[in-house]
Amino acid sequence: MRVICVAGARPNYMKIKPVMDALERGGAEVVLVHTGQHYDPSMNDVFFQDLGIRPPDRFLGVGSGTHAEQTGRVMTAFEPLLDEVAPDVVVVVGDINSTLACALVTAKAGPLLAHVEAGLRSRDWTMPEEVNRVATDRVSDYLLAPSPDAADNLRAEGYRDDQIHVVGNVMIDTLFANLDRARESDVLSRYGLSRGEYGLVTLHRPANVDDPVVLTGLLKALGEIAGRCPLLLPVHPRAAGRLADIGVPGGIRLVPPAGYLDFIALQDAARVVLTDSGGVQEETTALGVPCVTLRDNTERPITVEQGTNVLAGRDPARIVSTVTRMLDGPPAPRRPELWDGHASDRIATVLLEGGTADSRPRPTDQTAFG
Ligand code: UD1
Ligand code: UDP
Repeated sequence: MRVICVAGARPNYMKIKPVMDALERGGAEVVLVHTGQHYDPSMNDVFFQDLGIRPPDRFLGVGSGTHAEQTGRVMTAFEPLLDEVAPDVVVVVGDINSTLACALVTAKAGPLLAHVEAGLRSRDWTMPEEVNRVATDRVSDYLLAPSPDAADNLRAEGYRDDQIHVVGNVMIDTLFANLDRARESDVLSRYGLSRGEYGLVTLHRPANVDDPVVLTGLLKALGEIAGRCPLLLPVHPRAAGRLADIGVPGGIRLVPPAGYLDFIALQDAARVVLTDSGGVQEETTALGVPCVTLRDNTERPITVEQGTNVLAGRDPARIVSTVTRMLDGPPAPRRPELWDGHASDRIATVLLEGGTADSRPRPTDQTAFG
């Protein structure tokens, strides 16, 4: 079986690596395609080094642009490649523009399409990722869900049970595989931090960082929190210019985006994590570290119901009071079922036993959707 695995941006690399390894262990020929959506060394190269991912077999080099430009460039570059490589299956992960672009091309070209992280729903259509999630699932053959709530979403949308596989969370496979190495990182001493005595912040959602009024409010809240607990903020490139324009209050230290091992070490030793990232909500849950999510919704409600995550929204007063509550009484660590380090083995089993496009599980008529 020949499988194309697609990656394009920071949160893809830690998801695709264990899937590639599990497929290769099972005897598949894997072709790694990198779309080039993220390209800075600190958003890209460091993950290949830290995670030991081999250089991509194919690089599309699409770079940045508007949604249509970026999605269109990936589609245009991926289509002839797909024709040439002629895989049996294409695996896409997550919810970025590269995910949707390769899914759309695959669905029309013929190979089976597998979506890792299927079924997550924020129900917030202002998020570009929500469009990407819903549309990618709709054209996928294999819906590989990280948790039962994701499978419930898919069933409610009319997908057939034989398409849905609750496999667990591949991001946690990579976390557990690298935790011991991450704990050897010297990042705390480099930044003069002590375990349990600082907060870690990430901000990159357009709804939080593109609007100066919203970002100013968030920084006000962070400034108050920093009076009690110093904050470290590795800056995503989307937020860099805006943060420099507005300026950050004292007690918040801005640093470049962290590599994977350093960032896991920083989460693991943090007193609290404040974030709008999807993956960070999951990793803090697996690590048992208190997490305050600076959003009104989450596509990962299991991290709230069965983890250490609390939604605080974007109102500065509510953020401060939520963080204060978390610092005074941290939640007990809990980990969702199947976030056990073996999700990618379950994915490989589904795909390797799954047959070919001739037996595709995707409904070929519209009846499943009424
Ligand atoms: C993308 C994903 C988002 C994901 C995030 C992870 C989409 C719609 N968004 O958001 O779901 O959570 O990645 O980090 O796919 N830039 C650089 N260097 C880089 C990459 C980006 O400077 O290596 C800057 C460019 O100015 C670019 C901007 O960041 O225009 C945004 O990059 P883009 O990939 O479009 O979206 P992200 O905000 O990174
Ligand atoms: N991450 C990292 N360095 C950072 C911030 C995040 O290595 O400075 C890692 C984090 O541990 C997780 C992934 O990047 O594995 C999450 O990616 P991101 O927050 O960019 O995207 P999202 O998950 O929101 O789509």
